[in-house]
Amino acid sequence: MSHSPHTKSAQPQSFTLQPPEWVRQRQLIAWVERIAALTQPDQVVWCDGSQEEYDRLCAQMVAAGTLQKLNPAKRPNSYLAWSDPSDVARVEDRTFICSPRREDAGPTNHWVDPAEMRGTLNGLFEGAMRGRTMYVVPFSMGPLGSPIAHIGVELSDSPYVVTNMRIMTRMGRAVYDVLGTDGAFVPCVHSVGAPLAAGARDVPWPCNDTKYIVHFPQTREIWSYGSGYGGNALLGKKCFALRIASTMGRDEGWLAEHMLILGVTSPQGRKHYVAAAFPSACGKTNFAMLIPPQTLEGWSISTIGDDIAWIKPGKDGRLYAINPEAGYFGVAPGTSEKTNFNAMATLKENVIFTNVALTDDGDVWWEGMTDTPPAHLIDWQRQEWTPAIARETGRKAAHPNARFTAPAQQCPSIDADWENPAGVPIDAFIFGGRRSSTVPLVTEARNWAEGVYMAATMGSETTAAAAGQQGVVRRDPFAMLPFCGYNMSDYFSHWLKTGERLTQMHATLPKIFCVNWFRKNAEGKFVWPGFGENMRVLAWMVGRIEGKAEGAEHAFGLSPRYDDLDWRGLDFNREQFAEVISSNTDAWRTELNLHTELFEKLQQGLPAALTQTKSAFEERLAT
Ligand code: OXD
Ligand code: MN
Repeated sequence: MSHSPHTKSAQPQSFTLQPPEWVRQRQLIAWVERIAALTQPDQVVWCDGSQEEYDRLCAQMVAAGTLQKLNPAKRPNSYLAWSDPSDVARVEDRTFICSPRREDAGPTNHWVDPAEMRGTLNGLFEGAMRGRTMYVVPFSMGPLGSPIAHIGVELSDSPYVVTNMRIMTRMGRAVYDVLGTDGAFVPCVHSVGAPLAAGARDVPWPCNDTKYIVHFPQTREIWSYGSGYGGNALLGKKCFALRIASTMGRDEGWLAEHMLILGVTSPQGRKHYVAAAFPSACGKTNFAMLIPPQTLEGWSISTIGDDIAWIKPGKDGRLYAINPEAGYFGVAPGTSEKTNFNAMATLKENVIFTNVALTDDGDVWWEGMTDTPPAHLIDWQRQEWTPAIARETGRKAAHPNARFTAPAQQCPSIDADWENPAGVPIDAFIFGGRRSSTVPLVTEARNWAEGVYMAATMGSETTAAAAGQQGVVRRDPFAMLPFCGYNMSDYFSHWLKTGERLTQMHATLPKIFCVNWFRKNAEGKFVWPGFGENMRVLAWMVGRIEGKAEGAEHAFGLSPRYDDLDWRGLDFNREQFAEVISSNTDAWRTELNLHTELFEKLQQGLPAALTQTKSAFEERLAT
């Protein structure tokens, strides 16, 4: 290393920083100068977000071997990237919340003292961009200028990040107009951690075995090192829109949630919006783009977002939500015309695919896309693939976490109000996990506190791919376990307080429902058909919101009886329904004991309302 960032070196910078005239935020310019001096890129490029810039970067990545252009007749204006096999997913164990005090990060986050972490990062980032270009990427999370939106600027040495950010966020020049001379932004620094020596040849997917995904909630900063993949590198998504934004929401009285948002329109033409939280890999994108069965005539679903919701209370006491993102970064394997017709239609053009397989005619394929796989592919690890090779070796054509990056506006079910800067009013929250037993198909909480309890204790069974121990329930409160930027117990308090605040405004609180699409029978088979048929449950919820539908109360809330659901066009009998809706007393005793374990872990700051709710449930269960 030629000089230390700690000492004010007199060494001249190897570039001149000349921001274009449309960049007027002086703090921003000074920060870019500081990071450039630290990371020492060959040049600094101020991105304008134009199509011309996007096309140029893609062409450059094609020349470098990072991207392949797909057959324009099959997949216009689309590209395929294959990552380094060591860089294929978010790295939760390398994700840090560096709040001033360990207690503020809480027991579910990795904490390091901020000063110590700054020292580590300074060492890692010093000279980290040598031989590369540093891109300045301005972006808005949410419609430009929306009172619910916030701005970030990512400095990255990865052109792959720039092009993905252009799809996933509102990226480009217009952001500077919103920033003006002194607007606030969240600074995000990203490096793949692979400086290039002069004249050295680059690899298609530079990255580093050492990885750090670091958040400073107090100063609202993000630093990411060593990975070029997804949530590790596209810093607007999990890092900003969830981890940093959740702490902003706590301080400012709003909510940043790991939730899809959808609109439900009834046959009478009434529209309601719901926000739903499910852990990763529970079919959120499918639910957000659901197509109701034709027999449920008159019902329709529209999509606001598939992953993240920012929700702020309005003056009328209702909660208004926006999707802070502008694209979908969805898991490709398992997506097909049958499982998610709208997603497949969204993927027709202008897409960046990552780690799926390449077909002989220059298109893409992944497991589950079609019933019969193509006879020959190049798999995501750049190797020959045939069904016979797959049978022999078990090798997948696409990585299980292969992704598509696609513009939201290409989704056929996109809601007319998805860019409404005021957001859409939320009438219900839905929480769900993957549980083969115990948790009923749907339960309505009797009140806000019981709803918060259900969300706080929700869990999901790990799939074989994830843990090796199939069927183990991992508690994932509010589906926020990897994404909450502060102490989870304080987060529960924030939710309880939000409910109190709305009550004081004499508002009708959104209803809270808990769902489980994944109950299995004695043979280990899923009982509920799921996918489009979930419309039947949504229709019942709408009936509850409108005061039209009935149900039966049990220890944990209220669930529909068989005759409360609309069964037109589905062969699903009373016995099957009993299998998905039942709540078994013994199973629930065990379940409540597991909640005790969770509460012991989250003891510090755990709101009394939750332990009281638990006692009340136990009493109800006993009678
Ligand atoms: C995601 C996730 O990528 O939750 O959305 O992991
Ligand atoms: Mn997610």
